[in-house]
Amino acid sequence: MAAKVVVIGSGAREHALVRALLQGAAVGEPRELVCVPGNPGIAREARCVQPRGNDAQALADAALAESPSLVIVGPEAPLADGLADRLTAERVPCFGPSAKAARIEASKAFAKEIMREAGVAAAEAVLFDERDAARAHARSQKHGCVVKLDGLAAGKGVVVCDDAAQAVAAVDELWRPGARLLVEERLSGPELSVIALCDGETLIALPPARDHKRLLDLDRGPNTGGMGAVSPPSDAPPALVESILETVLRPTARALAERKMPFVGALYAGLMMTPQGPRVLEFNCRLGDPEAQAILLRLRSDPLPLFLAAAQGRLTGQRPVWDSRTAVAVVLAAHGYPGHPRALDEIAGLDTLREVEGEDLWILHAGTRLHDGKLVTSGGRVLTVAALGAGPSQARARAYGAIARLGFRGMQFRQDIAAREA
Ligand code: AMP
Ligand code: GLY
Repeated sequence: MAAKVVVIGSGAREHALVRALLQGAAVGEPRELVCVPGNPGIAREARCVQPRGNDAQALADAALAESPSLVIVGPEAPLADGLADRLTAERVPCFGPSAKAARIEASKAFAKEIMREAGVAAAEAVLFDERDAARAHARSQKHGCVVKLDGLAAGKGVVVCDDAAQAVAAVDELWRPGARLLVEERLSGPELSVIALCDGETLIALPPARDHKRLLDLDRGPNTGGMGAVSPPSDAPPALVESILETVLRPTARALAERKMPFVGALYAGLMMTPQGPRVLEFNCRLGDPEAQAILLRLRSDPLPLFLAAAQGRLTGQRPVWDSRTAVAVVLAAHGYPGHPRALDEIAGLDTLREVEGEDLWILHAGTRLHDGKLVTSGGRVLTVAALGAGPSQARARAYGAIARLGFRGMQFRQDIAAREA
């Protein structure tokens, strides 16, 4: 009987997972792919199932109804709400952490506590549960700071401030009753995402990637969920990744295991390369988006045995094979993103691009839907175009060449993804 894999999510990261699992079928065992809920792009490649709702219970019900051999969870929210716990209770292997371990992302305060325990170097922060105290502290931050909401905010709970006035304004903007805020030292340097597959005990680092968080070229404009990624960045040699694995990811996984909340899934460290060395800005409990689109495009071995081994505590001995070329992923976002993305703009050009898609060019759907028989925008990040090239400039040329053939009204994208890579 073919293995049945259920992928949970509806973004370009999940589309990339489905693509990689399909490509893996060419070298691995036969498989059936189901996506809950998926999107119109994924629906061309896997069966999509609509759950009753989008909460963890409804997603778990839909996944369990398939009697899957493996469930891979893309986004953080259902993990924080116990989706993996429910699947584990039903003895279904799940790639994704328990609600307890997912707090490494869901609570920045918890993440700081674990890092302190594990001796991991992170940005210094002070935690506030009163607005006035947070404001007073913000007022003393003359040289800038970063104000963060302690909770899941889809990449929008962070304001980087240049001076005290901006810091006070950020406290007022992010504050809500019952909230906790962190006021963090503002670091500088290039950012890097290092993600490890983790089975609770054993870790395997994926190739490094660099996200481009700001909306506009030259890292201007507001923070977003991510506007593009490159893997590998030219300043992240294997020795750096290895040292981040040893000094950041392994100690963090060990601290979680010691607290009886072993981490299973993708443990993601968002780092800043400061003059004093790498510092953790955040942990995520899942693959990054758009990092996953770039990283998975480089996977040359079958992801199915790898993700299943992680879910079943058998990662030791797994050896994923990576393409040595560079992958560049560019996000195409809707008009109004990241504030109020506009829906219903018709998307043109996808049909002609389908002929040139293959193992080195992926056009991945996220916020798209069918409306009156036409494909239209229906979310902030609409598509990701990911391409491989011998180096960053060739990968960029391929990705932007494909983008030139695509379009919708109000389409926003950065022209400079990977532009500063050597
Ligand atoms: P986070 O969600 O915590 O990763 O923050 C989102 C983005 O805000 C990061 O990718 C950085 O670009 C920026 N950021 C977060 N923390 C800091 C910090 N301590 N210093 C400078 N920039 C930061
Ligand atoms: N690209 C950053 C994230 O997935 O949170």
